[in-house]
Amino acid sequence: MKILNRYTPLQIAIHVYAWSAIVWIIIELLTGTFSINPIQELEQRTGRHAITLLVLSLLCTPLNTLFGWKEVLKRRRTLGLYSLLYATIHVLIFVHLDYGLAWSLIARTVFDKPYIIVGAITFFMLIPLGVTSFDIWKIRLGKNWKRLHQTVYLIAPLAVLHYAWSKKGDIFALSGDIARPLIYGIVLAIFLLMRIPAVRKFLASLPTRSLFHTPKKNQEPKVDAS
Ligand code: HEM
Repeated sequence: MKILNRYTPLQIAIHVYAWSAIVWIIIELLTGTFSINPIQELEQRTGRHAITLLVLSLLCTPLNTLFGWKEVLKRRRTLGLYSLLYATIHVLIFVHLDYGLAWSLIARTVFDKPYIIVGAITFFMLIPLGVTSFDIWKIRLGKNWKRLHQTVYLIAPLAVLHYAWSKKGDIFALSGDIARPLIYGIVLAIFLLMRIPAVRKFLASLPTRSLFHTPKKNQEPKVDAS
């Protein structure tokens, strides 16, 4: 098939995974098997998909470091943009379906619930990354592009904090329904640790790197700096 020739298996997997949340929701809505609390369910599912895609975008560089898999580096933008798409849907559900665009009530809720302030900061920090993720902005912003995109190291932990805090437990006492956000936090911490230059150099020296990448003779393993 022509379309399958145009895309790599990884690209197809990413697009299928990204759209799966919406497709699944539509199927459940059409078959009447969706939650009895549909607005909350929509809010939660889109939020979870947004954070998962964000964390997956941070897995790309470690995968390249470990296995020399260069293609994943080209897929970071797609994952990031899908994350922004789901975060936008998540916010629209909150302001429109949940709060009916009652802005004064929304403002009161935002300031009453600190986890929503954290979510809003995360969202507004994510927007410039999405907008400037295209090559034209890379050229325009020069060195500042990298600086701007490094804010993802702050954005992702903020998203995890928003997730954990939205649960009715106590993050600090490890009580309530915080097992899942805790797993996200641990996975994210591992991905971020793998970016520390010393750790990265060690990982790049492992034999696993030759799985996708065969360095030329006398060539030092090259570590992508982004
Ligand atoms: C203005 C920005 C945002 C607002 C107003 C907002 C609002 C909310 C609300 C009200 C909930 C609680 C839903 C419930 O359990 O009843 C929630 C949960 C959540 N949000 Fe956000 N959010 C925002 C941004 C974000 C962003 C940027 C992300 C991820 C990148 C995100 C990810 C999540 C996740 C993972 C949950 C928990 C889902 C679950 O309980 O399984 N949110 N958000």
